[in-house]
Formats: sequence, structure tokens, C-alpha cells
Amino acid sequence: MTAQYDLSGRIAVVTGAAGGFGTAIVKRLTAAGATPVLWDLPAALEMLPDQDMPAHAVDVTDEASVTEAADAVISRFGRIDILINNAGIVADPMPTWDIPVAVFRRILEVNLVGAFLVCRALVPLMLKTAATGHSGRIVNIASVQAKEGMDKAAAYSASKAGLIALTKSLGKELATRGILVNAITPAASMTAMSIDAPKDRLADILSRIPMGRFLEPDEVAALTIWLCSDECSFSTGAVFDLSGGRATY
Ligand SMILES: NC(=O)c1ccc[n+]([C@@H]2O[C@H](COP(=O)([O-])OP(=O)(O)OC[C@H]3O[C@@H](n4cnc5c(N)ncnc54)[C@H](O)[C@@H]3O)[C@@H](O)[C@H]2O)c1
Repeated sequence: MTAQYDLSGRIAVVTGAAGGFGTAIVKRLTAAGATPVLWDLPAALEMLPDQDMPAHAVDVTDEASVTEAADAVISRFGRIDILINNAGIVADPMPTWDIPVAVFRRILEVNLVGAFLVCRALVPLMLKTAATGHSGRIVNIASVQAKEGMDKAAAYSASKAGLIALTKSLGKELATRGILVNAITPAASMTAMSIDAPKDRLADILSRIPMGRFLEPDEVAALTIWLCSDECSFSTGAVFDLSGGRATY
């Protein structure tokens, strides 16, 4: 049975909303009565089957684009309760010393600086909403690779480790200001991000998961929705594992 949460009236910005995890998170938010606002790159938004949902073309690495989208949410809804920092990219697997500098920088730019830029633009707006008595939530989608440091994925692992550190810092800063900030560390899931990885790489990754299967996007959404709910009330700056037993810490 699916747990039911009441997030009615809450406005939730989801970055990378058109992707695998984003779609599952948007579905759960909608089912809980929240209004998700879908942020993603223009080409990704164009592929969405439902073009009527509130959406805004955003490149999270572009400060002006993020500010414009934030202003649009406030103009339309007047509040922001929830932020899911979910936009992310991976690079082809390769040893650290072979990674082109531009590729390393780009991975950090999207996965870490992007989340920072979105927090920087939205937290002041979320604080205004929280001041009206409505508890806010930020959920950052990191990765088990942040904890473990994956071979041939130094840029991705480093970017997600940075996202965990950002979560911890921001969680402390907002702990008494009505906004809880938490991170999730998923293992591999067969979304667009992973599905085209080399077969031997996928077999290697699967062999590291004690439960012997890949993660389902809805399992990310289920944990995310709990973190967004009032049932989550005494966790902030925390990291929630979703790795089928791969990371036991
Ligand atoms: N799929 C996995 O195996 C896995 C495992 C652990 C963590 N994650 C993380 O989960 C998050 C979602 O991944 P997913 O599996 O749904 O992948 P996905 O590729 O299906 O979705 C990622 C989304 O991010 C968007 N995006 C990329 N760059 C962007 C930018 N500059 N600005 C705005 N949007 C941008 C893409 O357009 C896409 O819609 C990512 O942060 C990813 O790193 C994924």
C-alpha cells in the first residue's frame, strides 16, 4: 500500500523534472496534492507528454536563467515550499588522469554549482514562505558514488560528495528557520542517465548491490515525498541511503 501524505497547497520546484527520477518525483508530489513546477532544459521539457503542467525552461548552470525561473514561480504562485535539486549529468567512465578538464568542470558545474545556484536563488524566497508558518523542504539527489568514490567516475563522485557537504552546511544554516535540508544517495537505476552505459560497467555496478537489482525511480520518489512531508520533522543536513545495501553507512 502506498503511503499517503498531504502536501496540498505546497509549491514544489523540481529540477531535472523531465528525467527518470524527476518524473517519478513529480508524480508523487502531484498525488500528495502539491503543485510541482517542472524545471529542465528546453529540449527535455518538449518531450513531456503533459504540456499543461507548470514548467519553466531552466539551465541550472546559468544564474540568469535560474533567477528568471524563480521570479516566474513567485509571480504565478507567490510562494515556494519545496525544492528538489535533481538535475544531473554523468560522463563516460574513464580513469581520473584521462578526464578532459572541460568535462570535469562541466560535471561539477551541473551537479554541484547548479544546485548551489538554485539554492542561492530559492532559499530567500522559501524563507519568506516559511515565515508564514509553513515548514519548507529541500531534497538534494546525490549518489552512493559520493560516499564510496567510484572508479572511473571521479568528477561525478566528487560533484555528488560536494552536494552532500552543501546539504550539511545549508541544513545547519536553516535548522531553526523552518526549512529542512536533506540528501538522498541512490544506487544505479535504469533511467536515461544509466541505460546506455557499457554493459560490463552495468554488470559491475549491479554486482555491488547486495539486493541484486537496480533501484526503481519510484523508490527515489517514495523517500523524497517522505522527506518533504510533515512526518519528517527532526532530520536535517542528513544523508539517506537508497543503495540496496551497497552503502551500509
Ligand atoms: N539513474 C541513476 O542511476 C542515478 C543514481 C544516483 C543518482 N542519480 C542522480 O539522480 C538525478 C536524476 O537522474 P536521472 O536518473 O533521473 O537521470 P535523467 O538523465 O533521466 O534526468 C536528469 C535530468 O536532468 C536534466 N538536466 C541536465 N542538465 C541540466 C541543466 N544544466 N539544467 C537543468 N536540467 C538539467 C536533464 O535534462 C534530465 O531531464 C541526477 O542528479 C543523478 O545524478 C541517478
